[in-house]
Amino acid sequence: MSIHIDAEKGDIAETVLLPGDPLRAKWIAEEFLENAVQYNNVRGMLGYTGTFQGKKVSVQGTGMGIPSTLIYCHELINEFGVRNLIRVGSAGSYQEKVKINDIVLAMAASSTSGINTARFPGAHFSPTADFKLFLNAANYAHSENIPVHAGNILSADAFYEEGENEYRKWAKFDILCVEMETAGIYTVAAQHGVSALSVLTISDSLVTGESLTAEDRERSFSNMIKIALNTAE
Ligand code: HPA
Repeated sequence: MSIHIDAEKGDIAETVLLPGDPLRAKWIAEEFLENAVQYNNVRGMLGYTGTFQGKKVSVQGTGMGIPSTLIYCHELINEFGVRNLIRVGSAGSYQEKVKINDIVLAMAASSTSGINTARFPGAHFSPTADFKLFLNAANYAHSENIPVHAGNILSADAFYEEGENEYRKWAKFDILCVEMETAGIYTVAAQHGVSALSVLTISDSLVTGESLTAEDRERSFSNMIKIALNTAE
């Protein structure tokens, strides 16, 4: 067992889906995996391992924000040998063209987090997706006629922004949407030589003020999970 994950070596697959919400981890395990077994409940941060089309896959809640997410990613990589980290989460749109329910593949993640400014003083590290995972996700989505956006996103440290228009400065530089974890996941993956990708569903829009209904949420989240499960080889 590691500090935050109560599992034995071998209990967790090389590929792990990472929702922020632990109850979404439970939903994914129940709806999409076969023979799913819960391996973690420390701090209520549920983790499950099962199979998808015969392949062993795990799903682990991360909590919200980069600091919480990095705890789980660090332990998954270093204590349990995880090789593919695939975030599945929600995001707020920064662009008119990125609509509620749409799916975004994060090619890169800009950030307001201090993790890399502290690490590389006076310089800027660019956290990026793994090319192979990205390509597999994009090809699968295309083959299933699921439209996706791909580009740079923002991983913010604060959910509540300074002002209503704060998002515009990022939008001008073609940032597609905001969430709170991807820059951390791409960084820790690069640091340890493993692969990472974030597949996001737009749950709200900073542009229009709309947000997803519970019904829509389930349907569009299903497409995101299908993409994520078909991404790792
Ligand atoms: N901001 C930050 N994270 C988010 C949002 C948002 O508007 N929507 C979903 N995750």
